[in-house]
Amino acid sequence: MKRENKAKERSQRAVELLGSAIDVKISELTESNRQLKRKIFDLYTIFEISRSINSVLDYRTLVDSFLLTSLGQIGASSAALYLPKNSQSRRLTLATSKGITHIEEVQGNINIEGRLATYLKAIAKPVMVSELAERFAGSSDFAFFAAFQNGLIIPLIIQSHLKGFLALGRKVSGVGFAVDDTEFLSILANQFVVALENARLYESEKSALRELKIAQRQLVLTERQAAIGELSAKIAHEVNNPLSIISNYLHLCSRNFDNPDKAEEHLDVARQELSRIARIVRQLLDFHRPQKAEKSTIDIRSLLDDILALLEWQLVERKITIERLADDPLPNVTGSAEQLKQVFLNLVLNAKDFMPDGGILKITVTSNDTEVKIKFVDTGPGIPPEHISRVFEPFFTTKDNSAGTGLGLSVCFGIIKEHNGFITAANDPEGGASFEITMPVASGDEDET
Ligand SMILES: Nc1ncnc2c1ncn2[C@@H]1O[C@H](COP(=O)(O)OP(=O)(O)OP(=O)(O)O)[C@@H](O)[C@H]1O
Ligand SMILES: [Mg+2]
Repeated sequence: MKRENKAKERSQRAVELLGSAIDVKISELTESNRQLKRKIFDLYTIFEISRSINSVLDYRTLVDSFLLTSLGQIGASSAALYLPKNSQSRRLTLATSKGITHIEEVQGNINIEGRLATYLKAIAKPVMVSELAERFAGSSDFAFFAAFQNGLIIPLIIQSHLKGFLALGRKVSGVGFAVDDTEFLSILANQFVVALENARLYESEKSALRELKIAQRQLVLTERQAAIGELSAKIAHEVNNPLSIISNYLHLCSRNFDNPDKAEEHLDVARQELSRIARIVRQLLDFHRPQKAEKSTIDIRSLLDDILALLEWQLVERKITIERLADDPLPNVTGSAEQLKQVFLNLVLNAKDFMPDGGILKITVTSNDTEVKIKFVDTGPGIPPEHISRVFEPFFTTKDNSAGTGLGLSVCFGIIKEHNGFITAANDPEGGASFEITMPVASGDEDET
């Protein structure tokens, strides 16, 4: 009986021992399960954060999201981020903070080449404030860390350079920082510092582009002012000449009251000069306001017919033959018929003026799917090569004795530009001058060729 009881007791103890061993195992498993869950959660958070911060290029947003994530994830009571003020700065100062009551106590001004910064760079992982306190007690760089008692410092390092650090206050729960926390913060800090560097590069590219644009605008403005200045001087000169002639002849006129024929002669000269001024003013207005005219769909060939009919008599008298060649069918262009007539008129009149003993003016109109080209080639002396780049300048003329204002071609240039086209001057291989106008085909007309 006694033996039986002993055997029972033994097996009962064995069961108890086994039970407590199982309990230990279960609690161990529960703990590692908890740690695993935390790891998965941390990894997931890091994955989500890196996905979002890598797409953020705004410096402020990045800094804020880094600070909030560090605080929220770890449950720290406060956080402060120390960064250089700009890329040249050799000191780390407070960039932003959360949960700090007395900001003035945590400003910080850490020399990036000082002992503390060098130490943070060397260990390159989160370090307890208490550990730093032992090493750097008394150092001015360390003074403000008192606000982060029981806290943690996370260095921000990229390519072995310390870019700043994050200071976290103690945990709200009162528990100390765990290995999981420091691992999480290390990974997060690495992600953040890369994203921060990208944002900095992006910012500096953006500001370089901004500066370039400002410089460009100023250049255009300066150029425009210079052009206006030059133009005003030329206008003053062009108007002054006939004005002084008028003044002289009116003076002569007043001295010839007793000789009406002579006085009439002088008045005639004054009238001619007045009409010259009127012509200059009219052309200047055309030059300035080509955009005011109404636009319609235009058939270049019929426009040329109109102009040539108008000038036929003058051209015949000058023994100038017109040779015309045009694509058929020809797409239309969009524009102001009146203004384009003025362009063609100026070009034909120039050709006439430069072929005083007659010649041939060849007008060719060609097209492709997108453009219409109108070319005027004469058999005159051509344009001296040194003048080719200047013929479109206002008041540039080689005509003698005030015969030309030098505004004809610059008016043409302005009108064609207003029609989204361009005009070029050259010399034909045969020797005469050649002017070519290129204009876009009217929309809706592109397929008709
Ligand atoms: N067909 C041409 N042959 C040779 N040179 C030309 C020809 N057309 C223009 N030029 C040159 O370009 C200059 C400027 O021409 P533009 O039509 O602007 O003024 P202009 O003809 O001199 O004066 P305006 O048009 O007032 O009579 C001319 O003076 C001349 O030097
Ligand atoms: Mg002219």
